[in-house]
Amino acid sequence: MAHQNILSSLENNITTITINRPSKLNALNQATIAELHKAFKEADENKKTKVIIITGSGEKAFVAGADISEFADYSVSQGEKLAAEGQAKLFDFVAHLSTPVIAAINGFALGGGLELAMAAHFRIASDNAKMGLPEVSLGVIPGYGGTQRLPQLVGKGRAMELIMTAGMIDANQALQYGLVNHVTTPEELLPLAQKLASKISGNSTVAIAAAIEAVNAGFEDGENGYEAEITQFGKCFGTADFQEGTQAFLQKRKANFPGK
Ligand code: COA
Repeated sequence: MAHQNILSSLENNITTITINRPSKLNALNQATIAELHKAFKEADENKKTKVIIITGSGEKAFVAGADISEFADYSVSQGEKLAAEGQAKLFDFVAHLSTPVIAAINGFALGGGLELAMAAHFRIASDNAKMGLPEVSLGVIPGYGGTQRLPQLVGKGRAMELIMTAGMIDANQALQYGLVNHVTTPEELLPLAQKLASKISGNSTVAIAAAIEAVNAGFEDGENGYEAEITQFGKCFGTADFQEGTQAFLQKRKANFPGK
């Protein structure tokens, strides 16, 4: 069935998922979260997809947050369920995908929008982008992983300030903080995302999946990232991609990875 709130297209081994509710600044309602879950899952399971780009439609917003109109009258238990289900279906789900996910932030990335961008494996932004976690201005806190991922990315003090002030930073400040890796003009945003994606897609997909798992392990409770790295490193030696990558190097040719 066609999606109502998102667009998804596959070209040159890159799946681009676009959140498409521009009249609501692409705010994440439950229906959109469910569609995003489905689209990310399908892209991850499709062998043709080597990289996923997530972006927002229109010139104004990536995502202006969770849809406030949906949860304004929620109770304590409904609030807890909203955060738990959202994290499981979308934010943790994206962070743990084995297909690399690049967030191309094309405008406001606020609340759940910044949390979605932070769940992606890395971020780039257009120079009109504005980022923040304004939840305390609504009497709530970030509930889709923001209190954890923002300090991981920018440091505890900067995260505390951004969360407590409910302020916004612009793209250049985000670049300086290390929250985004590159800043471009709005016109160059998707071309840059595609260029990075195409560079990634020339490498071994199984090795990239192993790298994502090892990097993530260092941020998981009760996991030892160094041990995860040793396990993933060892596993690579049993893959056809490793055979191809090392043989291609020794034979002075470009590797053509089978992806297994
Ligand atoms: N949830 C629900 N609807 C939202 C939304 C959100 N998070 N963010 C924007 N919208 C809606 C507005 O209600 C408005 O809808 P309407 O035209 O039917 O009234 C539409 O999107 C356009 O937003 P508007 O506020 O008119 O645009 P603006 O340019 O004046 O302001 C923002 C832009 C991003 C500063 C402002 O929309 C905003 O503060 N949004 C909420 C951000 C937030 O607190 N996010 C965290 C949520 S937990």
